[in-house]
Amino acid sequence: MLKIALSKGRIFKEILPLLAQAEIEPLDDPETSRKLILDTNLKDVKLVIIRATDVPTYVEYGAADIGIAGKDVLLEFGSQRLYEPLDLQIARCRLMVAGFKNAPTPRNRLRIATKYINVAKQYYAEQGIQVEVIKLYGSMELAPLVGLADRIVDLVETGNTLRANGLEPLEFIADISSRLVVNKASMKMKHKRIKDLIQKMQLAIDTKN
Ligand code: ATP
Ligand code: PRP
Repeated sequence: MLKIALSKGRIFKEILPLLAQAEIEPLDDPETSRKLILDTNLKDVKLVIIRATDVPTYVEYGAADIGIAGKDVLLEFGSQRLYEPLDLQIARCRLMVAGFKNAPTPRNRLRIATKYINVAKQYYAEQGIQVEVIKLYGSMELAPLVGLADRIVDLVETGNTLRANGLEPLEFIADISSRLVVNKASMKMKHKRIKDLIQKMQLAIDTKN
């Protein structure tokens, strides 16, 4: 059995063509089904539907052999505990610092609101800037508008969300795309099956780009 953990929404939609190239087709649509484990056309492959931020945890503990997760989520999780053999080149965006363009420098420590607290702490530590990081779970763009934070660390694709809230991208942190991650024990125990899947997906990515 091969269990693949992924989130519904953007990643699920974008991964479907790559899964199809690996001859994997889900039998249910997670947007309409309430099932959390989806059967596929292959008897030995199941899709486990979870929150995007939970994917690395499921894979680390072997509850899923394989996961599909954004590099943002993986940077925040830490890279040592999983294999990351493939850049799927889907759900592409950038991790950025954003805020009001001409905001005065605060007298105290900069306050940064984000769901990526580890990434934010590391980013500012590398620059020797002392900051106070505030953990949020969504709608980061709101924080500077209501005086909760001076800046945010968030994903930017088109920049529309920032613009709609009077904010601007200020500093680039990292390019983001989704990655295939693999449980370390599964990579050994199910090597042939997983290697075959990676090769088929790689071919689909190369053909697409
Ligand atoms: P959770 O449910 O855990 O809060 P989420 O709401 O952030 O997760 P999605 O919005 O589906 O879940 O995002 C999943 C992944 O898609 C992110 O981790 C990121 O890698 C990527 N992503 C998010 N927003 C964008 C965007 N605007 N453009 C491109 N990729 C994005
Ligand atoms: C993501 C991200 C930004 C937005 C950026 O949110 O958190 O808010 O996309 O994209 P843009 O630059 O094209 O506007 P998403 O739409 O996924 O909403 P969610 O995080 O609340 O699910």
